[in-house]
Amino acid sequence: MISSAPTESQFSRPSSLMGRLLLRSMNIGHSRLHQWGLKAAGIQLTDRVLDVGCGGGKAISRILEETRREVAGVDHSPEAVKTARSVNRAAVSSGRLRIVESSVESLPFRDGFFDVVTAFETTYFWLELQAGLTEIHRVLNRGGKLVIANEFSDRASAGAWADRLNMHVPDSEALAGAAYEAGFLMVDVSVHPHNGWLRLIAAK
Ligand SMILES: C[S@@+](CC[C@H](N)C(=O)[O-])C[C@H]1O[C@@H](n2cnc3c(N)ncnc32)[C@H](O)[C@@H]1O
Repeated sequence: MISSAPTESQFSRPSSLMGRLLLRSMNIGHSRLHQWGLKAAGIQLTDRVLDVGCGGGKAISRILEETRREVAGVDHSPEAVKTARSVNRAAVSSGRLRIVESSVESLPFRDGFFDVVTAFETTYFWLELQAGLTEIHRVLNRGGKLVIANEFSDRASAGAWADRLNMHVPDSEALAGAAYEAGFLMVDVSVHPHNGWLRLIAAK
């Protein structure tokens, strides 16, 4: 049971120049993780997609290439919102992409709006994992899909980072259990055979 909120850090809520630099570097450093997660998401051209905890917006750039419909991103960091908008300027200007400053625990979208929701390297920092998953379940349509990809598959694999950043690092079992409790029907969690990344795919 996750009860305490993680301590704030540049990873949990990037801010100022330091945050901006970190967001740009995560855009590069998380590229392969984004690719691995999106492969499992199987986004169709007709899918509406939301990326939660979107950070610097590089996963969104890939998502925009995979669908022709509306795409949205949310992040509770104003600096992340600004960076993600600037990285995806053309799609924001055309009106196809909306990036909103918001927390995953309270998403500003109507029930059943999205076909796919993605979350990369962000669940560690949520105030309440369960509340976030329940809210994502609400904004997905029936048959919609959630994909979570994390570099760390349990607390031990996160090593000193987990303590330093006070991260919550759910393992496969805990994450799958929380997804079922949020109402998802089919949940599959796998660990990358070479680098130990964790990926959850859950269907509503
Ligand atoms: C480590 S960064 C990962 C960013 C991006 N997804 C990527 O793969 O590069 C975590 C991001 O999640 C955001 N975040 C953390 N907790 C959040 C919450 N409860 N609601 C919305 N965004 C959150 C942070 O502001 C930060 O931008």
